[in-house]
Amino acid sequence: MNISIVSVFPELYTSFLSTSLIKRASEKRLVTFELDSFFSYVKPKERIDAPTFGPGSGMVIKPEVVQKAVAAQELKHGHAYKIFFSPQGQLLDQPMLKKLAGVLQEKRHIMLLPSRYEGMDARAEQEYADITLSIGDYVLMGGDIPAMVLIEGMLRFIPGIIGKEDSVTQDSFTGPFVDYPAYTEPVEWEGKLVPEVVRSGNHQAIDRWRKEQAAKKSIMCHFNWVQRHVVTKEDKELAASFIPTHYVALCHADVLIGEQKQPGTTSVTSIDIHDIARSCKTYGVKQYWLVTPLIDQQKIVQKFLSFWESDIGATYNAQRQKAIAAVALEASIDKVIENIAQKEGKQPLLVATSARQVDHDRAVSFFEQSKVWQHERPVLLLLGTGKGLTPEIMSRCDYLLDPIEGFTDFNHLSVRSAAAIILDRWLGVHAKKM
Ligand SMILES: C[S@@+](CC[C@H](N)C(=O)[O-])C[C@H]1O[C@@H](n2cnc3c(N)ncnc32)[C@H](O)[C@@H]1O
Repeated sequence: MNISIVSVFPELYTSFLSTSLIKRASEKRLVTFELDSFFSYVKPKERIDAPTFGPGSGMVIKPEVVQKAVAAQELKHGHAYKIFFSPQGQLLDQPMLKKLAGVLQEKRHIMLLPSRYEGMDARAEQEYADITLSIGDYVLMGGDIPAMVLIEGMLRFIPGIIGKEDSVTQDSFTGPFVDYPAYTEPVEWEGKLVPEVVRSGNHQAIDRWRKEQAAKKSIMCHFNWVQRHVVTKEDKELAASFIPTHYVALCHADVLIGEQKQPGTTSVTSIDIHDIARSCKTYGVKQYWLVTPLIDQQKIVQKFLSFWESDIGATYNAQRQKAIAAVALEASIDKVIENIAQKEGKQPLLVATSARQVDHDRAVSFFEQSKVWQHERPVLLLLGTGKGLTPEIMSRCDYLLDPIEGFTDFNHLSVRSAAAIILDRWLGVHAKKM
């Protein structure tokens, strides 16, 4: 297997390729490297780049230089899978590294074409790139560090290159969870002990502990990765066991109503009861409260709930009955908070949902679950009806979830649609089946 690298600065790779495991891999001939310079494909004193057409500064590597480099390397090592680098490329993550290691094993020749300056002439990439990779949403001076990142990450998947191959299968971002914490001697350091279970010699207990630690850390620090990669029932259950308990309250009081947006109350609607109950059940919400202080409205809810508790409800639709079993009624948000505090032994964090962005300090996006979850408290998501929650209630909330928006200025979702979207973004699985 050969990796050809054509760079503006091939000297950058000399110590990189002659150190540690990469050096050993080439000594064992598991992989060979061919270092080449773009300058090999121009006459002495001729430039490899030229100014960008149009306004704006910057130099661009000429397409014919790339063409000659590709032809020369393919003549030596056969047809190559060609990798270009750009911050605009596909993200290089662990699954991508594994895939490219497979490509290297299959095609036997990979060619890396890291660029510099403003990049390469767009036509060269169009013509030759089998893939263009980005190592993250930031801009470096050149593609050499990205190329080295690729080499290090990809070669870990090639058998024989790193000592313990099974460690690769347990690495962070190989599955839905990150790696477990590792410890070595001494047993006590700076007053900190290696956890007893790790020293117990009980392999089953160690395995279980490691899995739990990995899942817990992933939920707290990399939840969006977990959302995108959790597939099996077992992993979903493990992940769910570390997600803080969530509650939802649909507020028919403490909301703004009418054109003047005055504080008031709204009426309950049966469709919001069962649709939101079904969303809550789907996303693992423990209890869904309808909050109304109005006796006539409470009676409507009670009548509705008693239908679903009855055998007729079960016969009518057993699945819906299951969802509605988690619906409860309270007269005020304070009563809901009291109820949760009693159940959980901890005050819930209040997270408001709103169609308007109100306060930046407490704002939390759908990528920041950890901000809320780090408190290790139950979470109460407050949904408003009418024209939304009152400023008084909003000011009591610990966090304000970002509003849901499309690329339009229409901003009038029904509360049940908003609830479903919010729950899916906040707690949903968005994984691609492998
Ligand atoms: C200064 S950058 C050009 C950036 C370009 N003007 C843009 O904004 O997309 C020069 C070269 O560095 C490499 N590079 C910079 N940042 C990178 C990243 N995040 N991932 C991969 N390659 C990167 C690419 O080869 C790129 O062509």
